[in-house]
Amino acid sequence: MKMEKFNYKATAVSPANIAFIKFWGKRDPLLNIPFNNSISMNLSNCLTTTTVEFSSNFLDDSISVDGKEVLDSKKDRVVRILNLVRKKSKIDLKAKVISQNNFPQGAGIASSASAFSALALASSKAAGFSFPQKQLSILARRGSGSACRSVIDGFSEWKAGDSDSSSYAIQIAEPDYWHLVDVVAITNKEEKKVGSTEGHERVTTSPYFRLRLKRLPKKMKSIKEAFIAKDFLSFGNLLEEEAVDLHLMAMTSTPPVFYWNEGTMEIIHAVQEWRKSGLNVFFTIDAGPNVHLICLRKDAKKVSDEAKKLKNVAFTIINEPCKGTHLTDKHLF
Ligand code: DP6
Repeated sequence: MKMEKFNYKATAVSPANIAFIKFWGKRDPLLNIPFNNSISMNLSNCLTTTTVEFSSNFLDDSISVDGKEVLDSKKDRVVRILNLVRKKSKIDLKAKVISQNNFPQGAGIASSASAFSALALASSKAAGFSFPQKQLSILARRGSGSACRSVIDGFSEWKAGDSDSSSYAIQIAEPDYWHLVDVVAITNKEEKKVGSTEGHERVTTSPYFRLRLKRLPKKMKSIKEAFIAKDFLSFGNLLEEEAVDLHLMAMTSTPPVFYWNEGTMEIIHAVQEWRKSGLNVFFTIDAGPNVHLICLRKDAKKVSDEAKKLKNVAFTIINEPCKGTHLTDKHLF
């Protein structure tokens, strides 16, 4: 039977995001349905660009990230998203996926959120779809939970939901609502970490997990109120409380996960000193040793300069809130 020649490609750009209220623990690990709602800000200088092409010329799916071929379980994770798109579009063609990050490799910045949101848009568009935001957020979530928040412009909340169709992110505010800046301080001693997927699996073994879930709705309400009122001090204190809570869960899971290193502690102590001296900055930390220093735009340069003076800080990346996943006509191949 003669197959019709199909050849279409699309390219998407997407930011990583930093969670203010963390996604930690999956109610459904296959669908990436979380136990709790989470909120985040997109990061303007941590971007992934991905081009996807479906073509009858390809004999197999091929994936390359920052010039390196992706194989085995990492490839399977990408192929699962391609399969969802293929199933829906009823196209039976292999894909070529080329992806590039603009932030340094090995810096320990989670790229799964930017990667899977870019993949969701590029692959669905390449297959001929123009998904509404909700559907795109759902598809991105299937690749990596936190990716569903990167789809949204500016600040977003992931509504946990309880099924594939009810778990997606919505916007809380446009990027220019509040001039928050995230200065990511990259610590020198990058330790081999337990991936967040594994951390999510272990969290229910923490004796404090139920207590966290019980306390979260109130914390969520308070942090949203502080955000809307642009009350930086209340917002910052809640931010730090939440970051410590995540790591308390990780450290008290069985087996425990210790994401912090010497640099992490050095920065936490420095943040406390900076605040005493009048520099308004708060920390939050995801599943790794790097510290996200959250401040107002007017203080960002000072915060970055101070952070770079610390013994264990290799470099910083200054991020503003930015728009979410979008298409570009600058294809990577
Ligand atoms: C600590 O979204 O990376 O960054 O769904 O397994 O890919 P997977 O997990 P992922 O988990 C993110 C965890 C976090 C907190 C957050 O971003 O909310």
